[in-house]
Amino acid sequence: MSNPTLLTISGALRKGSHNRMLLAEAAQAFGPADVIEADLNLPLYDGDLEAAEGIPSSVQTLANQITNADAIVISAPEYNKGISGVLKNALDWVSRVEGMAFKDKPTVVIAASAGRTGGETAHFMTHSCLTQLQAHLLPGPSVLVAGAMNEFDADGRLTNEHYLHTLTIRMQALRAISGQ
Ligand SMILES: Cc1cc2nc3c(=O)[nH]c(=O)nc-3n(C[C@H](O)[C@H](O)[C@H](O)COP(=O)(O)O)c2cc1C
Repeated sequence: MSNPTLLTISGALRKGSHNRMLLAEAAQAFGPADVIEADLNLPLYDGDLEAAEGIPSSVQTLANQITNADAIVISAPEYNKGISGVLKNALDWVSRVEGMAFKDKPTVVIAASAGRTGGETAHFMTHSCLTQLQAHLLPGPSVLVAGAMNEFDADGRLTNEHYLHTLTIRMQALRAISGQ
């Protein structure tokens, strides 16, 4: 049987992002897979741009990656007690593409943030948006990495056993439901 395709989506763009590190850890916990990292460096959603030029190619690429994925994991940073603009913009664009890319797609949301709650509000908001997009959100214990700047080593690996354990449970459940 071929490897499943796992799409990882980080709500932060920066290279040193803790959410990107968490996603790398999630991919390891998922097991053998063709891992694709989504690029959320998209134009800002603008109805005039959409009317004039249609769906931008970068958005169409993202929608195709979502459609073709067997499983998706999204990591959400928290900005001002909410979802990052980067992630919300991407979800808004994808919702404008024909075909409802997220519909029934096995999806897990995780989060890493500097604060004490690990981005719980951003996690909740991401779930709320994905419900509207009819993603198949897996229930389970939340992975909310608090004080993220202290939880990864110099190689970007998650050091906290508790987070690793919960992440592994979530990713194994995602693998099981992705039909592979
Ligand atoms: C504009 C902005 C707003 C932020 N607001 C919050 C917040 O509400 N809660 C929180 O825990 N951290 C907040 N932070 C800190 C982020 O959690 C921290 O920068 C985190 O590392 C971002 O994720 P990243 O490492 O994946 O880039 C904020 C950071 C920025 C830049």
